[in-house]
Amino acid sequence: MAWQSVVRVANTKAHQTAGWQHFRCWGVLTMSMACAEAPEPRFAAAVRLGGVEVSADVLNQGERLYRRYCASCHGEDGSGTGAMAKQLPFPPRDLRTGQFQTASLDADALPSDDDLESIVRDGRPARGMPGWAGLRPEDRFAVVQFIKTLSPRWQAPNDALKSDALKSRDR
Ligand code: HEC
Repeated sequence: MAWQSVVRVANTKAHQTAGWQHFRCWGVLTMSMACAEAPEPRFAAAVRLGGVEVSADVLNQGERLYRRYCASCHGEDGSGTGAMAKQLPFPPRDLRTGQFQTASLDADALPSDDDLESIVRDGRPARGMPGWAGLRPEDRFAVVQFIKTLSPRWQAPNDALKSDALKSRDR
């Protein structure tokens, strides 16, 4: 009887140790993956985009989401040359131009945040871009603010703003 319980205890110990080793491996692996995914935040200060100040926190959050959800097609720099771009029936938009089809404004005006947010929410399914209806509205807002930093259009002097669509939004 006694030896049996010793074996039982020994077995349990062995299992626990193996389990711990396993856990440690995964722990280290996940930690290093998390580190690899988190480069230094790019924005140290707020940026004025289309005359509206956007905080560094929002832009850093937007960049993080952009890298995760958008860069595979649109490319890290927004040029539309991400790794998946060649497999798509239509080229992803070059976000550096700041020109969009789904803009309710005339071509000379900057698209409004609402225009951009609805593109991100609904995607362009017929053209190969999925929608992100499941993203929290504040995350969609952040990614939209970030894509504006990819184009010089939003940094141009405010004469680019022909309509009042970008009239200071206090978000
Ligand atoms: C699977 C590839 C893919 C992913 C991922 C993707 N897009 Fe796109 N995107 C496209 C394609 C293709 C187009 C061009 C659609 C067209 O020609 O009408 C496009 C177009 C756009 C446009 C321009 C739409 C217009 O009306 O002109 C914007 C803005 C945009 N994408 C933003 C984003 C953002 C932000 C993300 C991440 C949240 C994203 N895209 C993720 C493929 C993608």
